[in-house]
Amino acid sequence: MANNEELFKKIISHAKEYGFVFSSSEIYDGLSAVYDYGQYGVELKNNIKDYWWKAMVRYHENIVGIDSAIFMHPTIWKASGHVDAFNDPMIDNKDSKKRYRADVLIEDHLAKIEDKIEKEVQKAAKRFGDSFNEEQYRTTSPKLLEYQQLIDDTKKRFFGSLENNDLEDVKKLIEDLGIVCPVSGTRNWTEVRQFNLMFSTQMGSLSEDTNLIYLRPETAQGIFVNFLNVQKSGRMKVPFGIAQIGKAFRNEIVARQFIFRMREFEQMEMQFFVRPGEELKWFEYWKQERLRWHLSLGIPATKYRFHDHEKLAHYANAATDIEFDFPIGFKELEGIHSRTDFDLSSHQKYSGKKLQYFDPELNEGYVPYVIETSIGLDRTFLAVLSNSFTEEVLADGSERVVMKIPPILAPIKAAVLPLVKKDGMPEKAREIMDTLKYDYLCQYDEKDAIGRRYRRQDAIGTPYCITVDTRTLEDNTVTIRERDTMKQDRIAIHEISGIISARIQTHYKPTPQ
Ligand code: GAP
Repeated sequence: MANNEELFKKIISHAKEYGFVFSSSEIYDGLSAVYDYGQYGVELKNNIKDYWWKAMVRYHENIVGIDSAIFMHPTIWKASGHVDAFNDPMIDNKDSKKRYRADVLIEDHLAKIEDKIEKEVQKAAKRFGDSFNEEQYRTTSPKLLEYQQLIDDTKKRFFGSLENNDLEDVKKLIEDLGIVCPVSGTRNWTEVRQFNLMFSTQMGSLSEDTNLIYLRPETAQGIFVNFLNVQKSGRMKVPFGIAQIGKAFRNEIVARQFIFRMREFEQMEMQFFVRPGEELKWFEYWKQERLRWHLSLGIPATKYRFHDHEKLAHYANAATDIEFDFPIGFKELEGIHSRTDFDLSSHQKYSGKKLQYFDPELNEGYVPYVIETSIGLDRTFLAVLSNSFTEEVLADGSERVVMKIPPILAPIKAAVLPLVKKDGMPEKAREIMDTLKYDYLCQYDEKDAIGRRYRRQDAIGTPYCITVDTRTLEDNTVTIRERDTMKQDRIAIHEISGIISARIQTHYKPTPQ
């Protein structure tokens, strides 16, 4: 576990150092659980979106895409169940009348214990001077171990209580830990109550009593409310799907896991509309199909597993998660849900508009059943990033960090490098760059020794480096270096584009429906 935490920290700092992910508003000390994607991050993210979009919309003739607005009519969230049931716990202090999130009080308390551990380590380092062995101290000091045990036990109890919706125990935990209100300094707490995870804001154009609107907590509802628009305008026949990629917002409780759990994030969702009674067949199809999509990226199968839900939401009749082995353990990456006709029926009821499909083969109308595939874009990014991060010791004893990103997703596909910055090599390299850049994203780099330039490209996951040397000027050949093997071959300039294109082809082809 400690090793994985260490690995997670390394990945986070690599992501920052090499322009993949930054904390939002960093110069103002950041904004909790909100992140910005940098120059390479945005390319990787766009490539993941593209890989998903093509697999869904282009390769399945019966799936089309939409892009619905983030703001939607507030009644949508009543119909979907989010207003009443999308909650987290909160607590008030009776003396200060201040309101807190129960989880934040507990998290802050744990952070103080963590601070105590750090202070103890600093004190010991001063006391022992050069002979101080930090790792040994951290793993053997009884005081530190006691603190750590308290942190672990508290987390376990807190997450367990939350999962069982045992709000009384959450309050008792706050009391047992002796947590006081930072304003009044007292322990005079109210009961813990549920807190809705949706962000809300005001929309001026609506009348006074209905001006509260929400930032969508999922993209799915934008698909449901457009079901009939798309079906009619696209003359779609059941079974068919509607896909969407877009931002979602949740005022999350546990928000300390980098881009795993964010307050503003992106989802890639697809709702597949089927005949009632056929949903479990389609659920099985999509369960297998989505796993095939993940595996087509070349990430080992051992990194994925299904987690079938035993306790189903009241509207679902089957559900599974595809979990990924992140550095923080196996966690949900994608959900596949058989949502019955719950959403369409509910919108029918709340809107008063019929949301039915007339099936010409059966000669009858019905509200279709829905299979949903819902994947987090940022979590897929984190899965790719953490699977790619590799530290290697080379034959000559030197070390390199290489991001073994699947070539089809790599931000930069090729770097064009003149061996030295003279003798006509930069000009020749520029010529190559000027033809390749219309095929895919390339980078020209002439600064520093060639070895350092290779390392820079390894660190951002560029699959190929093209080097122009003296021989290039004589016979129009270059060396092409492959990122993972570091093997170099001599090829003709006119072959470059074809070789790289072949490597960045998709390996995913859907199973016929
Ligand atoms: N429409 C169904 C739905 O939204 P969900 O399990 O709540 O289902 C689907 O979310 C996916 O969205 C998750 O599997 C996860 O990948 C991603 N996701 C959910 N909350 C997230 C968060 N706070 N930060 C990043 N990704 C999140």
